[in-house]
Amino acid sequence: MLINFLARIYRRAPRVLLWKEAQEGERIYWQKRCNNAVGVMYEMAEHSDLAANLLQVNDREPSAFLDVGVGPLGIGLLWLYPDSLIKIGIDPLPRMKAQTGNPYVDSLVHRIRDDSIFIRARGENLPFPAESFDLVVCNNVLDHTIFPKKLLDELCRVTKVKGHLGIGVDTNSLFGFLIRWIDRRLRPHYNPYRLHPHDIIIGEINKDLQSRGFRILRHNDASILGSAMGRRRMQWWVAVKL
Ligand SMILES: C[S@@+](CC[C@H](N)C(=O)[O-])C[C@H]1O[C@@H](n2cnc3c(N)ncnc32)[C@H](O)[C@@H]1O
Repeated sequence: MLINFLARIYRRAPRVLLWKEAQEGERIYWQKRCNNAVGVMYEMAEHSDLAANLLQVNDREPSAFLDVGVGPLGIGLLWLYPDSLIKIGIDPLPRMKAQTGNPYVDSLVHRIRDDSIFIRARGENLPFPAESFDLVVCNNVLDHTIFPKKLLDELCRVTKVKGHLGIGVDTNSLFGFLIRWIDRRLRPHYNPYRLHPHDIIIGEINKDLQSRGFRILRHNDASILGSAMGRRRMQWWVAVKL
């Protein structure tokens, strides 16, 4: 019985399959969102902490702005700098149209989309030369991928020297990570696990950014107790490339 239990914990589907399953869940989620005016407005305002801190650090319009994992609506945080010359959103899902029936909401989404470029691609292989963007944002994406370090490498590569990088992602305390590690093997089809194939531990992103030549300017840190055994929470960072 013990061996059976350990085998269940150890076994996990191949990563590529996990990502495909996550993306299918994500597609259904966004399809529902596209038809719902409140849902669309919620998506726009959900990450206002990261948005406000980006504006405080970077009050000049970036001339080239990239949002990786922008979402199929194609808006992400691209609305934050309306006068930015180049605004590009990247997502592996196909672009979807907002048809909420509320003309205010639909026209707002269309206006943002008309002003920016949408590219269907994965963030692990960004189709841009190094140091192409003054501002790169990747919000609520890293734990939706299966190769988060590769994605981070790419975000850092395409950011210009002295350019800014804004990241938001759900993180887990050490205890929370351990519980999820076991529970996700026991309940692999639980929807929150399906949608988030990867778990990130508090402190991980700080180290990743610093080791890739970035200085963190602002972030919502966790206490020592929170890092050890606190609940899962959305963390964000605004960093500059040195
Ligand atoms: C929770 S949504 C966040 C969307 C948007 N950034 C926002 O905050 O509203 C996660 C997005 O990450 C995208 N995604 C998943 N894997 C990705 C990858 N490898 N590269 C880039 N984007 C990815 C999904 O398609 C989805 O649109």
